[in-house]
Amino acid sequence: MKVEDIKKICVVGAGNMGHQIALSAALAGYKVTCTDISQDMLDKAETFARTYLPERVAKGKMTQEQADLGLNNISFTINLEEAAHDTDFVIEAAVEKINTKRKLFEDLDRITPPHAILATNSSFIVSSKIADATKRPDKVCNMHFFNPALVMKLVEVVQGPHTSTETAQVTMDLCAKMGKTGAWLKKEIYGFLVNRILSALHNEALFLADMGIATPEEIDLAVMNALGHPMGPFRLMDFTGIDLSYYIGMERYQDTRDPKDKPSPLVVEKFAKGEWGKKTKKGFYSYE
Ligand code: CAA
Repeated sequence: MKVEDIKKICVVGAGNMGHQIALSAALAGYKVTCTDISQDMLDKAETFARTYLPERVAKGKMTQEQADLGLNNISFTINLEEAAHDTDFVIEAAVEKINTKRKLFEDLDRITPPHAILATNSSFIVSSKIADATKRPDKVCNMHFFNPALVMKLVEVVQGPHTSTETAQVTMDLCAKMGKTGAWLKKEIYGFLVNRILSALHNEALFLADMGIATPEEIDLAVMNALGHPMGPFRLMDFTGIDLSYYIGMERYQDTRDPKDKPSPLVVEKFAKGEWGKKTKKGFYSYE
């Protein structure tokens, strides 16, 4: 398959990442179906598209024609079969739980045409943990976007031992078609490039806050003012979702059984309270 053969893209998961990945693909000219198990998430994703595009036009960042194209190209459905049966490329952006992803890939393998590439947007999980749930492991890879996906340019494409070079190449080419910069990782590694670096920063920031050395606000200010980051680690966790930090930590701990991989006490506390960041209007900061 070549990137020119991709006409339809299916994005599974309309959450924090999925809704913006889907819109990015629609704006790049692809017919996109966005699907989720939650009608509420789909409604929110559709409302976002209907609000965001006119705002871009009003801001002079997009023409009316581009906005119309984006909106015409995207559709939302709760029915996975309907969303994926005629797709050429799937980007799975569902919850960061390995068993959910394995079940999804098993279903997608059954539903999608045999030529379709099945990519996961997982932030940490390498696709070899998922690929054997399908009968097409050569067409399974990681395609990892960053938050907010409409803005951030980098996409990591991770080629597992099962992934064919053709699949990785087509995925890299798709990144370019979507106006993104692909980084091709030729070997799998947990957390890929960026999240390994980011995790080191976040773990240290959480350790300092857990120890009472400084507050999350103070640590964020220090990182912004000393390192020039656009936002500090706590604001960023609010933004990407503290639930995500929790699930990633738990998945990792279940894999390694190393206590240092457990989510930090502060993350566990926030997770238990349902204070998951911007999406719940409260995390390390308040968004009322
Ligand atoms: N969705 C879509 N677009 C957004 C947005 C959002 N949530 N937030 C901001 N933007 C857009 C704005 O529309 C604006 O676009 P234009 O300049 O084209 O008009 C642009 O981003 C800048 O926005 P603002 O001026 O309002 O605010 P800012 O200068 O603070 O930028 C930001 C916002 C781009 C998010 C910036 O704060 C930033 O770069 N933050 C760090 C983001 C980051 O580190 N992301 C990686 C997260 S880690 C990750 O994603 C890992 C993972 O596995 C999930």
